[in-house]
Amino acid sequence: MNSSIRVAVNGYGVIGKRVADAVRLQDDMILTGVADVVTDYRIQAVLERGISLYAATPEALSAMRGAGLSPAGTLDELVAASDLVVDCTPKRVAAGNRERYLAAGRKAIFQGGESHELTGFSFIASLNYADAIGRDLVRVVSCNTTALGRVVGALHRAGLVRHARAVLFRRGTDAWESHLNAPLNTVVPETRTPSHQGPDLQTILPELDIVTMAARGPFDLGHVHFTMVETSRPVAVDEVLSVLRDAPRVAFVRSDDGIAAQNSIVELMRDLGRPRGDLWEVAIWEDALAVRPDGGEIYLVYHVPNEAIVIPETIDAIRGMAGFEPDAARSMARTDASLGIRRRFGAMPRPAEATSA
Ligand SMILES: NC(=O)c1ccc[n+]([C@@H]2O[C@H](COP(=O)([O-])OP(=O)(O)OC[C@H]3O[C@@H](n4cnc5c(N)ncnc54)[C@H](O)[C@@H]3O)[C@@H](O)[C@H]2O)c1
Repeated sequence: MNSSIRVAVNGYGVIGKRVADAVRLQDDMILTGVADVVTDYRIQAVLERGISLYAATPEALSAMRGAGLSPAGTLDELVAASDLVVDCTPKRVAAGNRERYLAAGRKAIFQGGESHELTGFSFIASLNYADAIGRDLVRVVSCNTTALGRVVGALHRAGLVRHARAVLFRRGTDAWESHLNAPLNTVVPETRTPSHQGPDLQTILPELDIVTMAARGPFDLGHVHFTMVETSRPVAVDEVLSVLRDAPRVAFVRSDDGIAAQNSIVELMRDLGRPRGDLWEVAIWEDALAVRPDGGEIYLVYHVPNEAIVIPETIDAIRGMAGFEPDAARSMARTDASLGIRRRFGAMPRPAEATSA
């Protein structure tokens, strides 16, 4: 490999466009191009950002040429010009590309819509970065599993979890396609218990006792998790706060600072000028965090920004697979600095800061 990792993105949708932008922010990565099959407005940003556009199928090549989009070539040509492909095509489409990447001798990252078995290795940077080093195939787990891994995984690593139970309120649709298929004025429970996210996290932390239940609702700003953790020993709120303040890509917000709901978080991200209003962190409501008086159970509620949360993990997966950075903390610090990841949002100092002032 060269001194920079040449990265291709296949599928320029919710995840792919964010991965492409994040790759362009890294000084050890080069975006070789993006491939897709559509020819409509969704391609405008590719062209205006000066990204090379490739056609993912023969039909798309003709359609793109017919539409005057001047694609730079085919997916196979893009793959050949790259060291690694991040496949961000829709759920289960990506699985069909696995052999194509391997036959070309290229590394590939898949997203959470694919099964763990496709790669045999699922990834969350703060939990198993070292095991990704040098791998050819990695699956970055879904947005919900990433959030559970960052929050419950951090408590688990601190030795605090006897078992965890989480209820996941999932967004009903992604905003770009909300005209097509969104629940209205209803909640749709998943009938399979546990829902897949708990077992998914166990592909990374097999010893963790976790059960998740999930439902979809009529909103598109992200997911919300209500998580209850029975502790392995009595704990105090301060200890829980301290563990989570040190946990990578977890940021605190406060309801009494006006961040009362998901829409306040999204509005703040827009006001801060973040690209697409993205939040890459899990946002935990600090003033909703509670511990049972005997220290036996922790109660948490947090916002999971489904569109953006897996982007920093994908960047770390690229760096680890390329073998460019052996140290998880250094890779994460580099990724976090490039994106501007933070540990707290809001104007109010936290209570400890206020009382010591
Ligand atoms: N949307 C989310 O909130 C979210 C969060 C985390 C992980 N994921 C996972 O990321 C992956 C991508 O999901 P998404 O939400 O970005 O999907 P999306 O539908 O927003 O984007 C998919 C893109 O792939 C393109 N595409 C379709 N068929 C293609 C083909 N054969 N070849 C090349 N491109 C093709 C589409 O035109 C579209 O631009 C899935 O595995 C999903 O489960 C999604």
